[in-house]
Amino acid sequence: MLYDLVRAGLFRCDPEWSHDLAIKNLSRFASTPVDLLWRQCVPNIPTEVCGIQFKNPIGLAAGLDKNAECIDAFAAMGFGFIEVGTVTPRPQLGNDKPRMFRLPEANAIINRMGFNNKGVDYLVEQVKQSRFQGPLGINIGKNKDTPNEKGKDDYIHCLRKVFTHASYVTVNISSPNTPGLRDLQFGESLDDLLSAVRNEQLDLSAKHGKQVPIFVKIAPDMDEVGVSQVADALMKSEMDGVIATNTTLDRSMVEGMEHAQEQGGLSGAPVREKSTQVIRRLRELTEGRLPIIGVGGIDSAESATEKLDAGASLVQVYTGFIYQGPELVKTIAQVLKQQR
Ligand SMILES: Cc1cc2nc3c(=O)[nH]c(=O)nc-3n(C[C@H](O)[C@H](O)[C@H](O)COP(=O)(O)O)c2cc1C
Repeated sequence: MLYDLVRAGLFRCDPEWSHDLAIKNLSRFASTPVDLLWRQCVPNIPTEVCGIQFKNPIGLAAGLDKNAECIDAFAAMGFGFIEVGTVTPRPQLGNDKPRMFRLPEANAIINRMGFNNKGVDYLVEQVKQSRFQGPLGINIGKNKDTPNEKGKDDYIHCLRKVFTHASYVTVNISSPNTPGLRDLQFGESLDDLLSAVRNEQLDLSAKHGKQVPIFVKIAPDMDEVGVSQVADALMKSEMDGVIATNTTLDRSMVEGMEHAQEQGGLSGAPVREKSTQVIRRLRELTEGRLPIIGVGGIDSAESATEKLDAGASLVQVYTGFIYQGPELVKTIAQVLKQQR
């Protein structure tokens, strides 16, 4: 109800300006009496994945809180876990504006942000200041001006910095907005990156006496062969899990709509089916041995259940949350609770 009013105001303004305003206020008023405006009780649905305890399986997807400035505000909304980032070693501005577009007819967004973020050191400071006790994912990427051949150095740099602050780390190789990044999803580049990440994970675990699972986030724009190669590579390199999926380049579901031809990744309802198919395929290929976080077009309890039925152990929301606000988390949790 309240979010309907907030949304009516925000949706009259430029999407990125609205986003920045929301982040600024969530950050400023978190853990103050004002947070009663978004604080809510969400049913407990205890879930364990990779040895991590989640109070419910509904998480915030990466990209909304890129710099980890609002962890406590999102925690108050009842998310079972929060993923911050994508963060890169050095701060970067991202692509030119405008770079975020709403497609309200399709409950969708197109973005080509390009990993705008304040850098990993800033993110770690923000994480240290948060009071959130629940599972925190930190999503890492590479700087735009780092060539792909050196990309792995950026991932390792970020992994070292965030390791002791994260419940899990996500290796993001599926943003369509950093030129060449998605090439890291295939062949030798993928094997090379994953084996470096795995070795570093083992070293850091030994050094800090702490297990931090690593998830790899993949794109929905892969054919059957592509998905099976990725699945093989993830299993071979002993990754702990996979996040499926990022945004899509496919525009077939939004043809003719305003902004449909903007470059970037499409998210929301139009990516739902594609993501679910990737999840289903991953579960078959890995015989359920690789935990999956399902994300893409979740905007209701039904679409969340679809992801869980396809093989996901946890789900995340981004675009559905922009369109519906915190109530979405509660609605999904209430229905999942009844189902259990
Ligand atoms: C504006 C915007 C920015 C995003 N930035 C990131 C990002 O930095 N890292 C990432 O892994 N995913 C990012 N995503 C992708 C989301 O985390 C999610 O995988 C995708 O949008 C599909 O879920 P949805 O349909 O619920 O939005 C972004 C999505 C949007 C809409």
